[in-house]
Amino acid sequence: MEEQFLQAQKMEAVGTLVGGIAHDFNNMLAGISGNLYLSKKKLHPVNDAYVYNKIESMESLANHAASIIKQLLTFARKGQLTMHQIDLPPLIHGALSLLRSSVPENIHIEENITNEPLNILGDDTLIHQILMNLINNAHHALDGKTHPVIGVTLQATTLDEDFVAAHVGGKAGRYAQLSISDNGIGIDTKHLDRVFEPFFTTKSQGQGTGLGLAMVFGAVQSHSGLISVKSELGTGTTFDIYFPINEPQQNPIPQLPPKRSSSVRVATILLVDDDVMVRETVAEALETQGYIVVQAENGQVAMNLFDVYQDTISLAVLDAVMPVCGGSKVADYIHQSFPDFPIVFMTGYDKDRVLADQKHHSNTVILNKPTPLDELMITIEQLI
Ligand SMILES: Nc1ncnc2c1ncn2[C@@H]1O[C@H](COP(=O)(O)OP(=O)(O)OP(=O)(O)O)[C@@H](O)[C@H]1O
Ligand SMILES: [Mg+2]
Repeated sequence: MEEQFLQAQKMEAVGTLVGGIAHDFNNMLAGISGNLYLSKKKLHPVNDAYVYNKIESMESLANHAASIIKQLLTFARKGQLTMHQIDLPPLIHGALSLLRSSVPENIHIEENITNEPLNILGDDTLIHQILMNLINNAHHALDGKTHPVIGVTLQATTLDEDFVAAHVGGKAGRYAQLSISDNGIGIDTKHLDRVFEPFFTTKSQGQGTGLGLAMVFGAVQSHSGLISVKSELGTGTTFDIYFPINEPQQNPIPQLPPKRSSSVRVATILLVDDDVMVRETVAEALETQGYIVVQAENGQVAMNLFDVYQDTISLAVLDAVMPVCGGSKVADYIHQSFPDFPIVFMTGYDKDRVLADQKHHSNTVILNKPTPLDELMITIEQLI
């Protein structure tokens, strides 16, 4: 029990550390990707082929780095989440059909999914990723095995006080239990405690980064779920995941504001971000599109600027988390006088947590960081 607690504390500490680094890297990557985008726009794909191709390889490296950062943010529970009511059995069945083709045909997949509806509050992309990582690991553990089998079981279960206490966190009650098992090589007892740590891998370099289970761990926690692993060397491994069952809500989740179209481009935009590299890159991209940009490095400066320029500013692009005063406060300030004022948030954090009050506001759109600049431009055009 004490060991479980220490393990949980260690994972929490690693999560905090990794989350902070990943957030900073995410901002830098946004700057890098943005500058590459701007440089590429100045080039001709054929006449400047050499530099153009170099920029494209840098873009693909930046995308790869962004996917690593995304897994780290998921582990640290700072990734983007879109939680809604999900009936788990059809989702798991559908995901499994998609994943079937990524697993060699000689591996038998034994699917045992309940017919009963199991409603949970979840993010379907994350659940797909959880399943994909666990199936991938099982597949690798089955290398060279004569009768390789992966089992996927989904059923309702009730967890009692003793069980949740032993697993640190969670409440006793009804859960959807998803079990992924394999009859592969198994995990050495001395590694069992470490498999969820980011970058822990027994695979050779280039074969694995050790982020799969770290991502799964964070994703399960984001769903207020529990995860456990049982394994025996030479016999196989089972991962059990428990998602709390949530009965459907009566109130439907509000939709995003309807898109408005407009061909008017000459508009002034208030751009607020504490990261100078992100801010200048976005500003340059906006100016290239013909917008006039008023920049601020934090929320306080932004509110002062808004007081002066409120008659000319048509839209605000706000970073969510900034020192001194964050984007949410600025949005509230603007909305006090102009309730329908269009606002675009760019956030590297979990938007449900950081921008919980903002996301249902009319004419407010929340984009993930690093935000592809073309996506930002389209969003702005639709809002203005
Ligand atoms: N089903 C399994 N059977 C045996 N060992 C496993 C299994 N799942 C995970 N492991 C062990 O846990 C380690 C960490 O798994 P994880 O998915 O986090 O990283 P990885 O698979 O090594 O790399 P990545 O998923 O980033 O490509 C693996 O290297 C392996 O040693
Ligand atoms: Mg893996």
